[in-house]
Amino acid sequence: MSLKEKILKKKARVGIIGLGYVGLPEAVALAKVGFQVTGIELNKNKVEKVNRGHSYIADIREGELRDVVRKGKLRATTNPSAIRNLDVICICVPTPFNIYKEPDLSYVRDATQQIAKNFRPQPSRFCEQLIILESTIYPGATREVVLPVLSTGPTRKKEGRKVGRDFYLVFSPERIDPGNKKYYITNTPKVVGGITRKCTELGTLFYNQFISKVIPVSSPEVAEMSKLLENIFRNVNIALVNELMLLCDRMKINIWEVIEAAKTKPFGFMSFKPGPGVGGHCIPVDPVYLSWKAKEYDFHTRFIELAAEINSNMPYYVVSKILKLLQHKAKSVSKSKIVILGAAFKKDISDVRNSPALKVIELLKEEDAKVLYNDPYVPMLKIGKNFLKSAKLTPVLLRSADCVVILTDHSNYDYEWIVKNSHLILDTRNIIKKRKVLRL
Ligand SMILES: NC(=O)c1ccc[n+]([C@@H]2O[C@H](COP(=O)([O-])OP(=O)(O)OC[C@H]3O[C@@H](n4cnc5c(N)ncnc54)[C@H](O)[C@@H]3O)[C@@H](O)[C@H]2O)c1
Repeated sequence: MSLKEKILKKKARVGIIGLGYVGLPEAVALAKVGFQVTGIELNKNKVEKVNRGHSYIADIREGELRDVVRKGKLRATTNPSAIRNLDVICICVPTPFNIYKEPDLSYVRDATQQIAKNFRPQPSRFCEQLIILESTIYPGATREVVLPVLSTGPTRKKEGRKVGRDFYLVFSPERIDPGNKKYYITNTPKVVGGITRKCTELGTLFYNQFISKVIPVSSPEVAEMSKLLENIFRNVNIALVNELMLLCDRMKINIWEVIEAAKTKPFGFMSFKPGPGVGGHCIPVDPVYLSWKAKEYDFHTRFIELAAEINSNMPYYVVSKILKLLQHKAKSVSKSKIVILGAAFKKDISDVRNSPALKVIELLKEEDAKVLYNDPYVPMLKIGKNFLKSAKLTPVLLRSADCVVILTDHSNYDYEWIVKNSHLILDTRNIIKKRKVLRL
C-alpha cells in the first residue's frame, strides 16, 4: 500500500516525537480518529503516565487518554528505534533560546538524528516515510538544519537519500493554545509547506484526516515565517498596549476602560490586554528566532527588539507599583509579606516557562520582601536555585499579607472571597473589575 493509501485508510502508523503541550494533544487527536500512534518521549515519567492513561496536560481529559490507550491506539516509548515501523513522524520537541537569547535547535537536531539513524533501511514505494517538523523554528531551518541530516540517512543508493523520492519532508507549525476552550487542535486550521510538491500533498492529506481546515503553501519557508508572523504580531501588540498602560497610569486614565471603548469599533481594531509581561514557550521566544536569523541578512527587526524591551520591563513596573502601594500604607517592602496569586504565564494552565511571575518574585525577594505564592495549577516553583511551594489559599494567608498581587487571572479563583479577605490588592489583570467584585 502506498503512503497515500495508508493515510487515506488511516492505516499509516504515526509517531510523535516529544509528548509535551503540543505532542500529547496531537497524539490523542490522531488516535481518536483511528490512527495507530506511537509517542517517542525522552522523559520516562511522561511515558509511564501516558501508558497508564494518566494525563499531565490540562487540556487532555484523563478519560480521553485512557480510552485511546485502552483501545491500543496510543502507546509511548523512550526507544527511538520505534521510528523504523512508522510511516508519518511528527517532531514536536522544544525550541527554546539559550542564555545569549539565540535559537537553541539542539532538540530538533537530536530528534532529526534519531530519525535519520532509524530510517527504514531500504526506501521503496511500499515503505515511504513522511517527516513533519511542527516545532517553531526560523525561516529556512527545515531546509538548512533538518533536510541535510535526513538526506544522509542509510540507503543502498550511493547519492544518499533524496527528499521527494526516498522520504518526504514538511514544515507545519503548531498553533495550539493551551487552555483555549473554543479553539483546539482539530478545529484550528493548519498551514503545511513541503520541500517538494509531493511532500506538501502528503502533508496536506495527513492533516486533512483530523484537522478541519488545512492550508497548503508553496514552501516550508512560507509556513515557517507565517508562524513567526502570528506570534510576533501578538507580542508587538501586547507591547503596544503595555506601553499605553504605562502612559495611562501616568495620565490617570483607566486603560481597561479605554480598551473596552476602542473595542466597540466593528472594524480595524483588535483588542489586546496589558499585563505583568509575556510568558510561555512561544510569545517571548519566537520573535528572537526571527531577529537572530534576520542578522544573517544584515537586517534589524526593530519592532521585535522594542516589543521585547517593553514586555520584559513589565515585571519591574509591577514591582514598582507594589512598592508604591506599600509606601502609601507607610510600609517598607523589606518588612512586608506579599502573596502572589497565579504563577502560570496565563490563566487556567500550569505552564510557568518564562512566566512574568518568576521575575516578579525574584525582584521582590531582592527587595527582601517575604514572598509566598498560590497557584492551583503549579504546586512548586523554581526561583533561581530555590524551590517555593504553593501556599494553601486560606483567609489567614490573605489577611496576613500586606499586599496580594494577582498575576494570573485563573478562572477558578473566587475573586469576591479574595477581595473580602485581603487588605490591599494589586490586580494586574483587571479581573476584579471584570468580575464586578464591588469592594475595590
Ligand atoms: N506550548 C505551546 O503552547 C505551543 C504552541 C504552538 C507551538 N509550540 C511549539 O511546539 C514545540 C514544542 O513545544 P511544547 O510546548 O510542546 O514543549 P514541551 O516542553 O511541553 O514538550 C516537548 C517534549 O519533547 C520531549 N523531547 C525533547 N527532545 C526529545 C527527543 N529527542 N526525543 C523525544 N522526546 C524529546 C521533552 O521531554 C518534552 O516532553 C516548540 O517548538 C514550541 O515553540 C508550542
